[in-house]
Amino acid sequence: MAMLKIEGPCRLEGETCVQGAKNSTLPLLASSVLCRGISVFHHCPRLLDVETSIEILEHLGCRVCWEGETLTVDSTDVTHWDIPDHLMRKMRSSIVFLGAILSRMGQASLSYPGGCELGPRPIDLHLDAMRKMGVQIREAHGRIDCNVRRGLRGTVLHLSFPSVGATENSLLTAVMADGITTIHNAAREPEIQDLSDYLNDCGADIRGAGESTIIVKGVKSLRGCAHTIIPDRIVASTLLSAAAITGGTVQLRRVEPNHLQPVLHVLEEAGCHLTLGKHEVALTAPPRLNAVQTVRTMPYPGFPTDAQSPMMAMLLKSNGTTLFEENIFESRFKHVDELIRLGGDIQVVGRAAVVKGVEKLYGARVVAPDLRGGAALVIGGLASEGTTEVLGVDYLDRGYEHLETVLSSLGANIQRVENDDAQNQQKTG
Ligand code: UD1
Repeated sequence: MAMLKIEGPCRLEGETCVQGAKNSTLPLLASSVLCRGISVFHHCPRLLDVETSIEILEHLGCRVCWEGETLTVDSTDVTHWDIPDHLMRKMRSSIVFLGAILSRMGQASLSYPGGCELGPRPIDLHLDAMRKMGVQIREAHGRIDCNVRRGLRGTVLHLSFPSVGATENSLLTAVMADGITTIHNAAREPEIQDLSDYLNDCGADIRGAGESTIIVKGVKSLRGCAHTIIPDRIVASTLLSAAAITGGTVQLRRVEPNHLQPVLHVLEEAGCHLTLGKHEVALTAPPRLNAVQTVRTMPYPGFPTDAQSPMMAMLLKSNGTTLFEENIFESRFKHVDELIRLGGDIQVVGRAAVVKGVEKLYGARVVAPDLRGGAALVIGGLASEGTTEVLGVDYLDRGYEHLETVLSSLGANIQRVENDDAQNQQKTG
């Protein structure tokens, strides 16, 4: 069992490229199932969740191969319409395969997805949308069996919340349905736009992705195409937060500054100087950050919930008090107790967390509670005196491509070490 060992404090300095977006890659790979033939995905990150998607694709009958940072999926022959339970449990976004399999095969059988570390994550909006498009759904004993007897049909959908996953599944179900589907209150995240761009290049007719209303005109068939995955805005936010807490100067290449607006506002308010290029962001941080006004997580284009924990870590040593309000997930403060072990002063009341900046943080052994919470601990460790050991590295590997290598290249003293002790600690943690 691996852990990350960080000797701090350090000052990050230098430049690095940002990986492709995990939250684009997973739905893109799922949708390649219904784009018959060969799809080529450039700038594809090597992540545990991507490996799980590949296992699912191979189970369904697709052929998949890596070449550098390009992943090719050949979905000429799809032979299965089920996803085994152990693969569904590995990651929440396995549910996005449902719409793709249904559109391609007319039936699908899978179990409820795993990954409930952020609190309850129901899929009612996904299933309601599919029912309205003509899918018969039977839920029993943790399995979901879906059938399309009389064909998928276009309809008008109103999502009661702009859920990212439900928008993606609705798109994938509608794209080859008979007639027009209108999705109201759709999620507006850049990853939805990326999915729509890929599908349109494959022959789909989708308009309005990135806005609240998406209109999908069903087409008869889709073919594969080549697509470059957008940069990961959460990884970029994590690296900027890490640089900021260390008083560093970094330049991120291969980013989309527009996708980072709410995060960049907070960084500026904290006292960082930013220079934006077309696909670059340069940040210079002051020796000590200012506290900021309330950070409220909201659906895009609001402040992303996935950047909440990295930002909270960033402000642990700020000058003043910051209020965080989590509005997307019920249980997204699990990193707080671990940040307190590093010397952070944080109080949680319901959906709010109050962070009082402290002068110093001190290295400790901490356990990643989830993917982004794990990133927050690494950020805290970079700014702590002495040694920080971050256990639960598997979480980080689900969303960050070689995080320790990237941070080392920016001057951090961080390494991955194998440690049996770490495994025991994590099990009892
Ligand atoms: C996606 C992202 C995740 C991000 C989240 C919110 C991927 C792979 N993951 O997750 O990183 O944190 O968006 O930006 O893209 N909800 C329901 N019923 C549903 C679906 C969702 O009540 O059927 C609720 C959820 O419980 C949650 C909220 O809606 O409270 C947002 O969830 P959603 O936008 O669906 O997130 P995911 O697609 O799971």
